[in-house]
Parts: sequence; structure tokens; C-alpha cells
Amino acid sequence: MTTTENTTDTRTITLRINGREVTHTVATRTTLADFLRDDLDLVSVHLGCEHGVCGCCTVLLDGESVRSCLMLAVQARGHEIETVESLSSDQDNLHPIQEAFAEEHGLQCGFCTPAMVLRAKEILADGKERTDAEVRHEISGILCRCTGYQNIVSAVQNAGRRLRCGDAGGCGEGKGS
Ligand code: FES
Ligand code: FES
Repeated sequence: MTTTENTTDTRTITLRINGREVTHTVATRTTLADFLRDDLDLVSVHLGCEHGVCGCCTVLLDGESVRSCLMLAVQARGHEIETVESLSSDQDNLHPIQEAFAEEHGLQCGFCTPAMVLRAKEILADGKERTDAEVRHEISGILCRCTGYQNIVSAVQNAGRRLRCGDAGGCGEGKGS
């Protein structure tokens, strides 16, 4: 029997992306990363290794981080996706996590930054204060080639204080505990 591979098989999917309902027809073999970047122009989703190692393609799916290079777009049907574009593009009114990364110099080239910011958003949702070691463990799935990590760790802790205590993070907690 001869089988013929249908390389243009498509599905129409509906999902929420950055708070907006999106309906789109995609090839069934399209990864979530390619769908977000190429079809929706959400180019904060960075592709590094494209096989699940570097974590730079991380997005939030229903609030939990996933590697978008390892998922198909059709698997996200019915789910809520957040990319870093869901935060703020207004320089004068940044999200507290963005403010914290800027204040602590938590980036250099910026390639890993969208993933780091989203991972921070995910882990800080529990409202807990974190030690250096805890943050290092929690961001360990995302590789940064530039910073040596310390400023990213400081940025995550700074962001946590801002989220718990307001804009300047001034609620008397120890810094970098
Ligand atoms: S590009 Fe997805 S894990 Fe590296
Ligand atoms: S800032 Fe360059 S890879 Fe992290």
C-alpha cells in the first residue's frame, strides 16, 4: 500500500494570547514558537537551540512556563499564552518586573531576557521572598550567556519586593538575602 504524507495539513485553533482571543489556521507541524513569532509577530519569543535546552523560547501557558520550541501550536488550542509583550511597552510605566531588571542591570544582550522575565512572573506569583540559592535554582532552566546570573538573581528578588511592597519595593525586607 502506498501512503502519501500530507505536508500541508492544517487546523484552525482558538486560544487567548496576551489577553486577546485569537483564531488562526496553522499547519499541524508548526511549533508554538514559530506560530507566535512568524504568524503573530511576537518576536520576544527567542529561538536558540530549538530542541529544549536553552529555555530562551519560554512562554507562559496558563501561567506556567513552557518551552515553545517543543510544543506544537495546535497543542495550545483553548489555552492562555503570555509572552513578554503582555507586560508594558511604555517606558514611563513599566511592569514592576521590567523595572527591576532595568534597575539591577539584569541583562546584557537581552536574548534570554524575555524568558527570564516570564519565569520571574511565574515564580513570584506566590508572593514569597526568595534567597539567592532559591532564585538560582528556579531560573536554572534558562541559559544566559552574558550576565553571570548574579544581576538576574538580584532583579528577580527586586521584582519580588516591588510586587509585594509597591513600586520601589520599600517594605523593609533585606536585599539579596
Ligand atoms: S529554543 Fe527552545 S529551549 Fe532553546
Ligand atoms: S543577557 Fe545575553 S543571553 Fe542573557
